[in-house]
Amino acid sequence: MATSMAQTLTIKQPDDWHLHLRDGVVLKAVLPDTCRHFARAIIMPNLVPPVVRATDAAAYRDRILAALPEGAAFEPLMTLYLTETSDADDIAAAAESGLVKAVKLYPAGATTNSDSGVKSIDKVTAVLERMAEIGLPLCVHGEVTHADVDIFDREAVFIEQVLEPLRTRVPQLRVIMEHVTTSNGIDYVKSADANLAATLTTHHLMINRNHLFKGGIRPHYFCLPIAKRRSHQLALRAAATSGDKRFFLGTDSAPHLDGAKESACGCAGVYNAPNTLSCLAHVFEEENALQHLEGFTSLNGPAFYGLPVNTKTITLEKRPEPVACSEKLETADGPVTVFDPECELFWHVAAA
Ligand code: NCD
Ligand code: ZN
Repeated sequence: MATSMAQTLTIKQPDDWHLHLRDGVVLKAVLPDTCRHFARAIIMPNLVPPVVRATDAAAYRDRILAALPEGAAFEPLMTLYLTETSDADDIAAAAESGLVKAVKLYPAGATTNSDSGVKSIDKVTAVLERMAEIGLPLCVHGEVTHADVDIFDREAVFIEQVLEPLRTRVPQLRVIMEHVTTSNGIDYVKSADANLAATLTTHHLMINRNHLFKGGIRPHYFCLPIAKRRSHQLALRAAATSGDKRFFLGTDSAPHLDGAKESACGCAGVYNAPNTLSCLAHVFEEENALQHLEGFTSLNGPAFYGLPVNTKTITLEKRPEPVACSEKLETADGPVTVFDPECELFWHVAAA
């Protein structure tokens, strides 16, 4: 990492450790926004139908590679969607071949396209034990889904009722607690051993639940896990900017067409791929922690996954005037609204 008087910051090229790319025309439209800045991304498997078997992951990977803009060097790191009937041998073979870098646990009904997810964790224990044996990490959407648990408490209850018992039962399993949104999550990760890490999203560092209801209901700030109160947001910012290697970037960039979000029952998901690095530089500067940005975006993730750090670098530059960012991405199926951080951004990626 190098800083200079001219307010530039050169860092190793970032990776995104939690990304939704979708499929078809939306995949084609959103992919350039990620591969413009990121070298690799962990690709979420919650398509309809989900990416369950190694053959599904191989086919999805090929569709992603075919949709890449000409000359783009981007490596999709594939995941498999864990179901109660997932086959441990198929998963192990997919990991062995290098195709798959993680398995994703969605509690059934927790979020967008999670209907095929896990209802009872006991049903997948054998698969998790096999993953622990071969060192294949589990990415966890850490929310319980019982109707009697308040939506703002789902993460804290998940840690207590599911994650801690699971980690006690299979202590060698490497787990990424994804998109942590509470101080409970941060504290839990800090208290755990080296087999647990966490991703943090861009938007959860910049918004809290007030943003969801400011002057009316704001569907473009609705995502899952839902943004929590400001004290939690501050805990996330402190963790992200602390230099602690257990925390790294997973944008959870999750595009939905505007029509699906601006609806009586709007979809969960925030599309932040286009301006994520501008937003993060802004947050890290506000926290006087620009020296830890590279760790968060480019070093801590590869270290946890046991992958090499990217060799290329990118240079961020702070402009005297705010940087313009399109409010919408146009796709052949309609527009997708880009995350609005509700503040002016001055940092941008000058050279990648
Ligand atoms: C994601 C999506 O749209 O696929 N939505 C979201 O709010 N984050 C699913 C998820 O990661 O929870
Ligand atoms: Zn997600």
